[in-house]
This record gives sequence, C-alpha cells and structure tokens, in this order.
Amino acid sequence: MKSSSRSFSTRAIHHGYEPADHEGALTPPVHLTSTFAFETAEAGGEMFSGDRQGHIYSRISNPTLDLLERRIADLEEAEAGLALASGMGAISSTLWTLVAPGDEIIVDKTLYGCTFSYLQHGLGKFGVVITHVDLTEPDNLVGAISDRTKVVYFETPANPNMRLVDIKRVSEIAHTQGAVVVVDNTYATPYLTRPVTLGADLVVHSATKYLGGHGDVVAGLVVGSAEMIAEIRMFGMKDMTGAVMAPFNAMLILRGIKTLELRMDRHCQSAMTVARMLDENPAVTKVCYPGLPGFDQHELACRQMSGFGGMIAFELEGGLDAGRTLMNRLEMIGRAVSLGDTETLIQHPASMTHSTYTAEERMVHGISDGLVRLSIGLEGVDDILADLEQALPGATNLKAA
Ligand SMILES: Cc1ncc(COP(=O)(O)O)c(C=O)c1O
Repeated sequence: MKSSSRSFSTRAIHHGYEPADHEGALTPPVHLTSTFAFETAEAGGEMFSGDRQGHIYSRISNPTLDLLERRIADLEEAEAGLALASGMGAISSTLWTLVAPGDEIIVDKTLYGCTFSYLQHGLGKFGVVITHVDLTEPDNLVGAISDRTKVVYFETPANPNMRLVDIKRVSEIAHTQGAVVVVDNTYATPYLTRPVTLGADLVVHSATKYLGGHGDVVAGLVVGSAEMIAEIRMFGMKDMTGAVMAPFNAMLILRGIKTLELRMDRHCQSAMTVARMLDENPAVTKVCYPGLPGFDQHELACRQMSGFGGMIAFELEGGLDAGRTLMNRLEMIGRAVSLGDTETLIQHPASMTHSTYTAEERMVHGISDGLVRLSIGLEGVDDILADLEQALPGATNLKAA
C-alpha cells in the first residue's frame, strides 16, 4: 500500500520508517551526533559539492530530524520539510531566506506577539518593508500587493483573536504578483487544515504546541517545495539563524505526532462544549470560536477546517479586571502561556503573549485589552467546565448562569 493512500493517523505513526532497516527497533533511534565520518576524503568533498548524498554535520541535517521532516511533509501534503529549534526559528529562517532590503512583506493584522516583533522591529530594521493588511477580506490584498511584495504571511486561526484567512483566495491573489504565501498553521495543525493543498507555498509551525502536544519541548517546522526547503536549510537555517532542532527534541515531536489525531479530536470536542457554555453565560460578552454558528467567519471555518480546534478567546463583562479576577479564581486550569498541551491553560494576551505590541498597536491590530485566551486541554471536559463555572460568578458583578 502506498503511504499516501493510508489514513492520517497511520501515516503519523508509520510514514518513512521501517524497523527492519534499524535492527528491528520499533521506535526510531535518536542519532545523538554532531558530525558524520566520511568514508574517504573524496566522499566528503563530494558531499560538500552536492555530488553525493549524505549527512555532513547536524546543523545541516541529521537522520532523526530527517525522519521527522519527511513525516511532517507527508502529513501536510508537501514535498519536503525542515525541523528547527523553535517556531520563531522556523519563521525567521524562512523569512531571512525570502527577502532582501527594499522588499515588502504583506502580513495580516493579527499575528503572534513575537512574530509581530520580529517583523516590525527585526526585519524592519534591515530595510524590509512590513505592510499590515486586513486579510480576513481577501480583496484588500488586490489593492495592496505590487511587484515589490515578495511574501504574503498570515496565521489562520490567528493568535489570539481567532481571525481566519481564506488560504485559497489569498494565495490566488498573491500569486498574480509572484509573491510567496507563508501560512502559520500552528493553531490548526495538518489534521484540521493543509494550506499547501489550498495553494500556500510554505507552512510554518510552532511544533512546541499541538505537534509536540505535551508541553515538554520547544520546536519548529516548515514545509513546502523541495527547492524552497533546500534554500531555507542551506541559507536561512545553516547560515543566518543556526536554529537547528536537537535530535532528542525531534524524537519528542515524532512521538507527539503519533497521537495528534486522537488528541485533536478531543481538543475540538471539549473546546466546542466550553465555547457553548461561555456563549450562553451572561457574564461573557464575546466568544471567538470558529465552531460557533455566531462566529463571524463560521462559513469559512466549515469550508477550510475539518474541525474547529482547541483554542478559544473571550471577553467578560467588566473587561480586563474581570479577566484577571477570573484567571486568579481558577483552581485546576493553569495560568500559563503556550498552548496545545494536555493541560488547559489560560492567559491574558495584552499583558503576556502580545505585550510586544504597544497599547495603540493592539488597538489597531484588533487585540482588545479585555481578551482572555484559553487553550482547552485533554482533562475531562466536565472538570474544565466546573472550574470555569466556579470562577465566573466572582469575576464579574453578574451571576453566571
Ligand atoms: C501562532 C504561533 N506561531 C509561532 C509561535 C512561536 O513558536 P515558538 O514559541 O515555538 O518559538 C507561537 C508561540 O506561541 C505561536 O503561537
């Protein structure tokens, strides 16, 4: 049976690995080596010139990372993948490869705080022009894009306010000017959305989140065409950032991916239940969850995602103070950044993950000060509901339903 005809979970567990090639080891070995011995001096030279395949040094490639790279590429339905030290390592290595001073990157209005900072304060400092466009309305891109636009970059759903971007339509428009479309697929994972199949050129991940799934590793991934991935590997990663993933971390991500489908199904199911409860609670003024029929982009979510994910953003009557009180009243749910872990986590974007934006920038970019972000974990959903329900009444003046 060809790998591509197998189910998502089967490929997540088996793709690219044959125990018989590794002395029968069911679990892939971890190649803890920084360098690789050449058979002869000539063979080493040929590897450097690209005339011979093989591993040279683990800042370029490593067999354990190689398996993870082939596996994530298969799950994303892309040609090739690259493993990096963190999500930010994946994003920065990718963008350093694609742009030069004077080039423009068009980005959506809402981005994860450190991505915003890297673009605005990092690349901006080196003469790359960053233009923010509201990509929730794809036609806005038609008027904004020009031949100096080299990259169109966005998250869908976006961290933290859950805005969605129509990958297919935005990619069509971007390609009329030859721009490369890069999608941060951290929130959806390849189980719920596969951007390459919708026209995107490159997909980046904070594998720290759902792909790892257990909150015990920081890691990043990028997938795309074999040609682009080779460039990012040999320039963006090898020379510019050096943000290489450690082999042991590749093992943790490979292990996490094996249960991605099971975990995502549970994250989606529990998040839907919690979102409905919040939506009906009079103390809650706004719930952003793509699965709710009242969500502005619910129709796009149904078209583009095969499930609605495990992330919820919401606002309380009483704004920021009420949000802080709610967080402090919780007994089981953890007050922590990051997401996609087994534990349910809550955080306040304006003072935490998105504090890299100034207050004015947050206003312009649609990140309200009262917004609270929940990452729904894998605990029993009744326990998640119970913790929120005991904390809500004391957080606002309104009695919770
Ligand atoms: C959507 C998104 N992209 C990228 C990143 C950066 O990933 P990392 O923390 O692995 O560098 C994060 C981290 O929270 C994120 O939420």
